[in-house]
Amino acid sequence: MKVGILGSGDVATSLGTGFVSLGHEVRLGSRDASNPKTVAWAQKTHGKGSTGTFADAAAFGEVVVLATLGVATKEAIRLAGPSHFDGKVVIDATNPLSFSGQGPPSLAIGHTTSAGEENQKAIPKAHVVKAFNIVGNAHFFRPSFPNGPPDMFICGNDPAAKKQVEKILHDFGWPSVVDTGGIEGSRELESLCILWVKSALVLGNWNIAFRLLRK
Ligand SMILES: NC(=O)c1ccc[n+]([C@@H]2O[C@H](COP(=O)([O-])OP(=O)(O)OC[C@H]3O[C@@H](n4cnc5c(N)ncnc54)[C@H](OP(=O)(O)O)[C@@H]3O)[C@@H](O)[C@H]2O)c1
Repeated sequence: MKVGILGSGDVATSLGTGFVSLGHEVRLGSRDASNPKTVAWAQKTHGKGSTGTFADAAAFGEVVVLATLGVATKEAIRLAGPSHFDGKVVIDATNPLSFSGQGPPSLAIGHTTSAGEENQKAIPKAHVVKAFNIVGNAHFFRPSFPNGPPDMFICGNDPAAKKQVEKILHDFGWPSVVDTGGIEGSRELESLCILWVKSALVLGNWNIAFRLLRK
């Protein structure tokens, strides 16, 4: 499968490395096609990874991942060209964090909308699925915790797209995927990111992840 990832940060490179190790072809996109971070990443992928602009990555991917600064993602989509997402499954890993206050970040928007919903509106012919936003990138691929793997929560409007993302998550080492409904569920999943950050700060430990207990 061809995967296009919009982003040059840790989320983009971690997911890119995960997809490459599963045998997929990956193109990372940036505002600058010769971004040193994406170029350095591609050099380590034995020809499976390539780089380009946001538009190059979006056009390349059969599946496209949004891995950009949360509050800049709509701008990244605009630069990529919204039509490049038409008909595709789009994994939205972003969080609309606001760093304007003191202390840990808060959500720039929320409660009446979310980044997931706004991103879906920006690419109305794509099938956006929120995923990967509730855990640190160090644990995206093959998460290993003493009590077993954590749960991944996802949401999105298209059942077939969610099934495809669930399969990707299983391949990444997430056996338990909780489908929380339509893309408006991003309001809760993006808030869960804040809970994750605050918990990590209180515990002094970023190696944490969520799990639903069942009986
Ligand atoms: N860090 C984590 O472990 C983690 C975990 C889960 C979810 N997330 C979320 O995943 C997303 C990516 O996080 P990250 O830490 O990898 O990177 P980041 O620093 O949040 O974002 C970097 C990316 O955003 C793009 N960008 C920044 N300003 C922009 C603008 N004005 N217009 C267009 N694009 C812009 C950059 O473009 P260039 O390539 O051109 O510089 C770069 O590709 C964020 O939304 C974050 O909240 C992070």
